[in-house]
Amino acid sequence: MNDYTKSKAIYQQSCEVLPGGVNSPVRSFRVVKHQPMIVERGVGDQLYDVDGNRFIDFCCGWGSLIHGHAHPTIVEAAQKRIAMGSSFGITTEIELKLAKKIIEDIPSIEMIRFVSSGTEATMTALRVARGYTGRKTIVKFSGHYHGHADCLLVQAGSGVFNLTSTSTSAGIPDGVIRHTISLPFNAIDTVKNFLNNPEYSNDIAAVILEPVGGNMGVVPGDPEFLMMLREETHKIGAVLIFDEVKCGYRMPQKTAQKMYGITPDLTCLAKVIGGGFPAAAFGGKKEIMQVLAPLGQVYQAGTLSGNPVAMTAGLVALELLDKPGTYEELQRKVDVIVKPVREYIERHDINACIQNRGAMFNLFFGKKSVKNKDDASQLDTQKFSECFAYLFSKGIYVSPSPYESWFVSTVHTQEHLEQARDVLLSYLKL
Ligand SMILES: Cc1ncc(COP(=O)(O)O)c(C=O)c1O
Repeated sequence: MNDYTKSKAIYQQSCEVLPGGVNSPVRSFRVVKHQPMIVERGVGDQLYDVDGNRFIDFCCGWGSLIHGHAHPTIVEAAQKRIAMGSSFGITTEIELKLAKKIIEDIPSIEMIRFVSSGTEATMTALRVARGYTGRKTIVKFSGHYHGHADCLLVQAGSGVFNLTSTSTSAGIPDGVIRHTISLPFNAIDTVKNFLNNPEYSNDIAAVILEPVGGNMGVVPGDPEFLMMLREETHKIGAVLIFDEVKCGYRMPQKTAQKMYGITPDLTCLAKVIGGGFPAAAFGGKKEIMQVLAPLGQVYQAGTLSGNPVAMTAGLVALELLDKPGTYEELQRKVDVIVKPVREYIERHDINACIQNRGAMFNLFFGKKSVKNKDDASQLDTQKFSECFAYLFSKGIYVSPSPYESWFVSTVHTQEHLEQARDVLLSYLKL
C-alpha cells in the first residue's frame, strides 16, 4: 500500500489558499474521484511525488513533454539562457530562430506570433480571423477544447466536458457566446449544410477545430470531413484554423495538417513548442497575419510573449525531434501498449476501445469506437475512474480524466512501456 501522507497534508493546506487546492481544475483529480498527486520531481519518463512514490508518466505535462522530464540537452540550454537574463520584453534573436524552424516545419505558416499559452493562441487567432474578414461568427466543434477564452467555452472538452450545454462556464454573458456555434465533429452533412446556409455563411469569420481531437480522448477527424471543411471555408471566405496545440509535433508527419494533406489558413501551437516552458504561437498566411498590430488594427501583446528561455527550450525540443527515425520510434513505443491491449479487448469482446494517432492514445470504456461528443458522452466514466485508481496504485500515471489523451515521449523505455502494458492488461483481466 503506497503512503500518500505528505501529499494529503499539502493538498489540504493548498485548499485553504487555492480554490480547490489547484491552479487548473483537472489537477484536483475530482473527475476520477481520487486523492490528487503532489509532484516533487520528474526525470525521463518518471515522476516522483512528495511521498517518494514513483510513477511512469503517460500524462507528460498534458502532452508538453515530448522528450520527458528534465531532458539534459533542454536543461543545459535553458540554464545557459537563464544565466544571460530570463526576460526582457525586448526582441531576442532566439525568437527569430524558433520562428524560422516552425516555418520550415509547417509550410502553411508564413508568419508567426509567439504567445505564452494555448488559450492565448486560439483566442488571438480568432480575433485575427474576425479582424481579417470583418465577420463575427465562429464555428467550433462539440467536445473540442481550445483553452478558456470566453467565446470558446461552448460545448467544450477536457475539464469542462461535463458542464452545462450552452456556455460551459458561469461568468460568460450570453452576448459573448452569441456568435459561437458548436457543431458535431465528423458530421459531414450537418456541417456542410450549416456552412452553406445563406443565413449564416456570410458572417462566418472562422472555423476552428482540433484536426486530431485530444480533449474528448483521442478522436481523429475523418479525412473527408476535414477536406470538406477546407473546401467549404474556402468557398465562403471563412478562415480555417487548425488548433494543433495538442497534436502538433506528435503526428508521424509532425503535424496533423501534413498527415491529412490539408492546408489551413491559420495554425495554433503550444505544448511541445515550449519544450516544457510556457510558449505558444499562432501563424499562417502572411496576408492574414499582417492584420496584427503593429502592422494592422488587430491588437495582441504580452509581457512574456517570446520569452527567451521558453524559445530556447522549444527550439532544442524541436531540433531533437529532427533526429532521423524519431517519429517511427515514437509509434513503435505507442504500439508496445496499444497493439496488445487492442488485441485483448477485441479477443474478449470487451465494451471498450483504444484509439491512437501519433504519440497520443487513450483507452475508452463503454464504447467500441468514439467519433464525436455524443459517443464520448456515453462513456463509462466510473469504469475509467476504477482503472485510473488501479494504474495509479501500481505506479502508472495517466491523465486523470476519461476525456484526456495519454502521451508517449521519446524517452519512455522499453521496460517501462512493457510494465505499463502488463498493468493495463492485468486490469482488463480483473
Ligand atoms: C487543443 C488545445 N487547444 C488549446 C489548449 C489550451 O492551451 P493552454 O492550456 O496552454 O492554455 C489546449 C489545452 O490543453 C488544447 O488541448
